Amino acid sequence: MLSENISMELKKKVQELAKDSHGEIVNTRRHLHQHPELSFEEYKTSQFVAERLKEIGLSPQEGIAGTGVTAVIKGKNPDKKMVALRADMDALPIVEANDVPYKSQNQGVMHACGHDVHTSSLLGAASILNKVKEDFEGSVKLIFQPGEEKIPGGASLMIKEGVLQNPKPAGIIGQHVMPYLPVGTVGFREGMYMASADEIYITVKGKGGHAAMPENLVDPVLIASHIIVALQQVVSRNASPKIPSVLSFGKVIANGATNVIPNEVYIEGTFRTLNEPWRAEAKEKMVKIAKGIAEGMGAEVDFDIKHGYPFLANDPELTKKLKNAAISYMGAENVIDLDIWMAAEDFAFYSHEVDACFYRLGVRNEEKGIISGVHTPTFDIDEAALETGAGLLAWLAITELQH
Ligand code: NI
Repeated sequence: MLSENISMELKKKVQELAKDSHGEIVNTRRHLHQHPELSFEEYKTSQFVAERLKEIGLSPQEGIAGTGVTAVIKGKNPDKKMVALRADMDALPIVEANDVPYKSQNQGVMHACGHDVHTSSLLGAASILNKVKEDFEGSVKLIFQPGEEKIPGGASLMIKEGVLQNPKPAGIIGQHVMPYLPVGTVGFREGMYMASADEIYITVKGKGGHAAMPENLVDPVLIASHIIVALQQVVSRNASPKIPSVLSFGKVIANGATNVIPNEVYIEGTFRTLNEPWRAEAKEKMVKIAKGIAEGMGAEVDFDIKHGYPFLANDPELTKKLKNAAISYMGAENVIDLDIWMAAEDFAFYSHEVDACFYRLGVRNEEKGIISGVHTPTFDIDEAALETGAGLLAWLAITELQH
């Protein structure tokens, strides 16, 4: 462990380096924002990342899980301990509506979830860490992954290709933009943080025909309606009140008319929770309920569940340590406690392999009108956040290596 004084000095050094490199990180972020690529197609992005890492003086490993890139920064006694830092690189199929000089030049694709921020921040942190590598012991592994937004998730593929092996990192840290948190703040939560997410696809198959003669038909619209209502009992009656669960259906297609009953009704939805055994049990219950209703009313049902990401749990000890480090880096008033968040994130896969901490970077600025949520065409950030995005991330890695 470093002495208090050395540690204070090093923190100051990191803060100054973050301040000095802010302009460069902004440029990197704008370049990435202008050239977004969809999940598992991050070819130019990954090439850009590898080139930047080489400029910093590192030897990146490319082509992991397709477009993934990793690199290791070695401090003193590099084999002593390793910490991993992770960023995701993919963008979303959204048409950007912002009128900014760095607007997406790839029509229909947009960094609307801040992965440009995560990637540029990690590159910034890499540059800072490489400049102070004589001042810390151990090594830092940088992980730039593809496909966070798309099942099966780039994280799961990176793990399969061994990014958490030889050596196994003692911990992994990831950050994500949060448009509800003001710029200059960050948020942490110990323990359970984000939900598992499974996609549900149901087809109710009846017998269509003239709406005036229901006695000759098997009405899939009515049966689908019963199924949607009945499935909510999985959340309201079968789920333990102590385990958060969400079941939402966002797509129902019954393509008939005022006087036409269709043959089929198609339903899509999502099931989210924070407990793996319950997740499996709930799936079985949902299939049983849907099949029972369909059969009882004379129809057939196809019930497909596409397995998504698991829940994300932040290691309590690691998170507490990093939260304290954030408090010392930016002041207690700027470090916020987060609530459970029922969205899903493929960083969850790492959290099931090694001690993990996923924290939030505030990017909101109401005065500047920067208030849009992620996954919207007007999402943007206050770029002042990039100084924290790079500096704090570097400092958290150093902190974890110190203990
Ligand atoms: Ni995201």
